[in-house]
Amino acid sequence: MELYLDTANLTEIREIASWGVLSGVTTNPSLIAKEGRPFEETIREICRVVQGPVSAEVTALEAPAMVEQGRRLAALDEHVVVKLPTTQEGLKACKVLSSEGIPVNMTLIFSANQALLAARAGARYLSPFLGRVDDISWDGTELLREIVEIVQIHDLPVRVIAASIRHPRHVTEAALLGADIATMPYAVFKQLLNHPLTEIGLKRFMEDWEKAKL
Ligand code: E4P
Repeated sequence: MELYLDTANLTEIREIASWGVLSGVTTNPSLIAKEGRPFEETIREICRVVQGPVSAEVTALEAPAMVEQGRRLAALDEHVVVKLPTTQEGLKACKVLSSEGIPVNMTLIFSANQALLAARAGARYLSPFLGRVDDISWDGTELLREIVEIVQIHDLPVRVIAASIRHPRHVTEAALLGADIATMPYAVFKQLLNHPLTEIGLKRFMEDWEKAKL
């Protein structure tokens, strides 16, 4: 399973990219707005750092405008993946952009049937939102399980991104369920690595090494 950062913050992206484990980045209008920098310039810069798929979401709501904005975003860099909401207009735009060879990530997926529709419209990526499903007392990992199973049974040419990840356990569950990618906030990425026993163990190794003075 590949690991993506879900952020538009370049400092965070540079840090995690430096670990050598970052395969891509997803953004959305809320994440872009949080940074307060020009949208297209930010996407270009993220692409330069990541050198892997970078999802940039359209803000238009009608299919023709989504297609126009999607083409413009795709022209920014070869790594751009156009992100579209899973709505009727999003499906129409997905069909057009996909048929032009532009990779599309269908976002805001909350049901297996939405995932099926997005796949039929030619999406390259499907983004079910685990955390937001959990937030309404449903089961985000169950949604992911259904979608991964449908993709596998029907051999659909899509990659499943476990999105809206809230904690490290979501990442483990996504990997066990066979998601292709997990996209997560910076804080969760850090939590994947940090473990108190690793810190304690390293401290003890260093103390013993100092005492021995070999
Ligand atoms: C996915 O691509 C979305 O940007 C993201 O995962 C949404 O997560 P949130 O529910 O934490 O906002």
